[in-house]
Amino acid sequence: MSRHLLIFTGAAGATPFIMNCAVILLLTSSCFTWSSALYIPNRAAPMNLKYLLEPPVYAEVVARRGENATFPCILRTKPSRYKVKWTKLEPEHAERENIIMISNAHAFKPYGHLGARASLRKAHTMDASLQLSRLQLEDGGKYRCELVNGIEDESVFIMLRIEGVVFPYQSKNGRYSFTFHEAKEVCAEQDGTLASYSQLYRAWTEGLDWCNAGWLHDGTVHYPVIHPRPACGGELLPGIRSYGTKDKNLDRFDAFCFTSLTSGSVSYISGSFSFEQAGLACQRQGADLALVGHLYSAWRFQNYDQCDGGWLRDGSVRFPISNPREHCGGIPEAGVRSFGFPNKMMHVYGAYCYR
Ligand SMILES: *[C@@H]1O[C@H](CO)[C@@H](O)[C@H](O)[C@H]1NC(C)=O
Repeated sequence: MSRHLLIFTGAAGATPFIMNCAVILLLTSSCFTWSSALYIPNRAAPMNLKYLLEPPVYAEVVARRGENATFPCILRTKPSRYKVKWTKLEPEHAERENIIMISNAHAFKPYGHLGARASLRKAHTMDASLQLSRLQLEDGGKYRCELVNGIEDESVFIMLRIEGVVFPYQSKNGRYSFTFHEAKEVCAEQDGTLASYSQLYRAWTEGLDWCNAGWLHDGTVHYPVIHPRPACGGELLPGIRSYGTKDKNLDRFDAFCFTSLTSGSVSYISGSFSFEQAGLACQRQGADLALVGHLYSAWRFQNYDQCDGGWLRDGSVRFPISNPREHCGGIPEAGVRSFGFPNKMMHVYGAYCYR
C-alpha cells in the first residue's frame, strides 16, 4: 500500500502561456471578426436557425471556480412574441429539466440554485446571453439557450469547462476502502468533487499516471496509465483503464477528485512538528492546516514548489513540486508527492497552512 502512495505524481502544471492560449483559442472566432473587416462567416456551415445565431459566437467557455462566465446567445431576428429559456442539461437525470432563467422582451425570472447566480448580459436588444457568477466545481457541463416562439423552437448549446486539477485520493486505511458514496464525501472533505470521465481523461493527457482504480462522478471506476507496466493492467497501450460501472454500495475503490482555484492561499511553516503541533502552528498564523485539494490547487495554479514534507488536515504528509530535481523525490515529473499517513506523533514534518 505505501509503495503506491509514495509515488504521487499529478498532472504536469500547464505554463501560464498554455493556459492563456486555451482561453484565447476559445475567443478566436470573435477576435477574428473584430480584427478583420473582411471576415465572412463560413458559408459551408448550414445556418438552419431562423432566430438564433448559430453557431454561437463561441461554443465552449473555460473558467475557474469563483470566476464569472458568459454564455453567448444572440437573436438574429426577433419574433413578435417569444421567450428565451436557459437550462443546464443533466445527462444523468435526463427526465428532469434544470431551468436557470426564462425571459421575454420585457422581463426575466431566475430558477433554482443556478438562477440565484445568473443574470442576463443584455448588451443590446438582441442579446439573450447568460452570465453565471462565482462558478462552482459542479457548474461544468452543457447549457442550452432555447428560443420558444409558439410552435417554433430553436436551441444553441454552450459547454462550460471548469479548469482545474484531478487528484487521486486513498484512505488512511489503505487501498480500495471507499464505496461510491464515501468517495464522494472524501472528495468534498478535501475541497473537491468526484472527477468526471472527461476531467480524468484531460488529466491523463497532462501527465497523470496512477496505478489504483478510483470512482468517478458517474459511478464508473477507472485509472489512467501513461507508462504501461505489468502491475498496472499489463502491456496494453497507454490510456484510461476501465472497470465499467460498479456497485455504488458494495464495491470499494479509491477516488479521483477534482478541484479548481481556491479563494485562499497555501503557505508552508518549516519545523519538526507532530500532527497536533502543526495544526497549532497554523492557528498561530490565523490559518488552518490545508486540505489536499488546497495543495493541489496551489501547485496547479500558482506553480507552488516546496521540497519539504508537511502535515495536511487529513493527517497525510505531502509536498508540491513544480520544478522536478534530483533531491526532491527524484521523480522527473512535476506533481504533489505523498508520504502517506505517518504516525501523528512523529516530530518530523512541517505544516501546510491554508488561509
Ligand atoms: C462577477 O459577477 C458578480 C455578480 O454579478 C460581480 O459582482 C463581480 O464583480 C463579477 N466579477 C468579475 C471579475 O467580473
